[in-house]
Amino acid sequence: MRADRLRLENFRNYERQEIEFGPGINVIYGDNAQGKTNILEAVHMFSLGRSNRTARDAEMIRHGGDRASIGLDFSAYGRESVFEINLSRGSRKTITYNDIPVRKNSELLGKFNVVYFGPELLGLVKNGPRGRRRNLDMLISQLRPNYFSKFVELKRVVESKNALLKMQEPNRTLLDIMNEKLAALSAELIAYRLEFIRRLERFAAETQKEISGGSEELSLKYMSCIGRLDINADIDRKELAERLRNRISAAAPREAEHRETIVGPHREDISYEINGRDARSFASQGQQKTIVLVQKLAEVRLIKEEIDETPVLLLDDIMSELDKSRRKFVLANIDDMQIIITCTDYEDFLGSIGGRGGVTGIYVKDGTAERQSD
Ligand SMILES: Nc1ncnc2c1ncn2[C@@H]1O[C@H](COP(=O)(O)OP(=O)(O)O)[C@@H](O)[C@H]1O
Ligand SMILES: [Mg+2]
Repeated sequence: MRADRLRLENFRNYERQEIEFGPGINVIYGDNAQGKTNILEAVHMFSLGRSNRTARDAEMIRHGGDRASIGLDFSAYGRESVFEINLSRGSRKTITYNDIPVRKNSELLGKFNVVYFGPELLGLVKNGPRGRRRNLDMLISQLRPNYFSKFVELKRVVESKNALLKMQEPNRTLLDIMNEKLAALSAELIAYRLEFIRRLERFAAETQKEISGGSEELSLKYMSCIGRLDINADIDRKELAERLRNRISAAAPREAEHRETIVGPHREDISYEINGRDARSFASQGQQKTIVLVQKLAEVRLIKEEIDETPVLLLDDIMSELDKSRRKFVLANIDDMQIIITCTDYEDFLGSIGGRGGVTGIYVKDGTAERQSD
């Protein structure tokens, strides 16, 4: 999979800009606050139909303007395709794929895949569960549009149930209907999560072993709302739904007291263990950083396995966070795919990759991007 050309119109601090990417490593460089990350955000938009930085589309429209549009020509599965996304203040965004309107966001999913790694993910192991869930949800959504649809549905049901629980006398029948819906949706979502965590673990464990010279055994654990689930066990959806029903009933008094939905996939977590010990409390900062890196490389391999194409790797200012050996390790593991990377020091980056070819430099300054001649 390859991003060929990006068009920005009134997107963030870009008025009108076209960027042509190279097939190998694209290095977007320039000073701070010039518009480097904005480019990655625009590319990321085509993988999920939404930003990785904000939930409000209007925030991406250039100050003072009413609308923005971004377009991407990309190659995948041996053909070229075109995506267009139009944002406007006050109305919903519109999307076209090869000039055909995309009516639902889930129809965009799966056509253009990325793996994103930016500084806010460095605390993935250490910080709260929200980031870990979000990271996993973004991965699965890209590959299984159905997951995304169910996920949106679940959010709606949880919101309605919360509203119901906040009433003076919640209607019992209505609550029962919602709980049944929640159990069914949650079972589906959890089954997807289990499958993906299991597949991620296989790749991540291999990579962790390699990067640690054989001394570290990485395993992933899934802390579901129905307890810790063995990711390698075969649990069918019927059984999951049944366990969820029981768990929801048991939590009813607590939910009534807190007036909030406590049981559901919106309250779950993933944990990482190294040699059987929880990395969140036992791993050093450097080890935790390595785990995130390993997780990202595992995502790349999982996507490759799933779609038989390499995703586009977006690395935001991340190389400067890694020491020399880890940088080398990353580059050795991603040499057959397109990478779009941002940094402030271009020469330093070039030095660190040791004269490797296939590098396209793109210089960004104050909302303009200029491709450097090869
Ligand atoms: N909606 C917007 N309209 C105009 N400028 C914006 C908008 N959103 C962000 N910016 C500007 O974009 C710049 C930050 O771009 P960013 O890509 O994050 O920088 P960096 O090069 O450090 O990665 C800032 O100057 C900010 O003011
Ligand atoms: Mg930035």
